[in-house]
Amino acid sequence: MSDEVTITIDGAEISACKGQTIMQAADAAGVYIPRLCAHKDLCAFGSCRVCTVLVNGRPQAACTQPVTEGMMIENESEDVVDVRKAIVEMLFVEGNHYCMFCEKSGNCELQALAYRFGITAPRYPYMFPERATDFSHDDIFIDRNRCVLCARCVRASRDVDGKNVFQFVGRGTEKRIGVNAEANLEGTDASAVDKAVDVCPVGALMKKRVGFAVPVGQRLYDSEPIGSDIEAKQV
Ligand code: FES
Repeated sequence: MSDEVTITIDGAEISACKGQTIMQAADAAGVYIPRLCAHKDLCAFGSCRVCTVLVNGRPQAACTQPVTEGMMIENESEDVVDVRKAIVEMLFVEGNHYCMFCEKSGNCELQALAYRFGITAPRYPYMFPERATDFSHDDIFIDRNRCVLCARCVRASRDVDGKNVFQFVGRGTEKRIGVNAEANLEGTDASAVDKAVDVCPVGALMKKRVGFAVPVGQRLYDSEPIGSDIEAKQV
């Protein structure tokens, strides 16, 4: 039996391999599906729902949904794009994202998604939550104001760094990133070279002393929209 299946994304037929997720198949074909919690080096988590697509008319997370023969997928329809915009807008109002002062600006995936979606102001009221920061470590810090609870650091620390430094604590609106030390980050064996630091999509887990090494205006998403690297693969 062939391992190949054919799926259709926004009317275009794409060959995919059994076992791939919709996102993996789309990436390979040069079709960008927006994402936030998904990362190519980490196991899928399926939490942010920014990658929502319609599969045969039903919403699914493209990062976790495996391909099957004949799937009809909507990636760029008005409804799908609006759902993603709403999710990104909710993330903006749920945290404290002061992009103009943030050292991640230009390298931030949340900000880059907002630019790509043309979001100028969220449709929801800002919540201005009080969030703790942790600057106790010599080389890295946590700013929970900017955390989007994507769990990339949790997965990277557990599966790549083998340290289990980060995990979620609390529930609902009190849910936060915690560390595996009694007091703070200083008491952990986290390090600036850890994958966990590298994969944070926003400015929540950052290295100290390098924030402005590359000037604003010359950063990753200052010249190319997020997803351009994937779309460049399109034949
Ligand atoms: Fe798929 Fe987050 S990227 S749920």
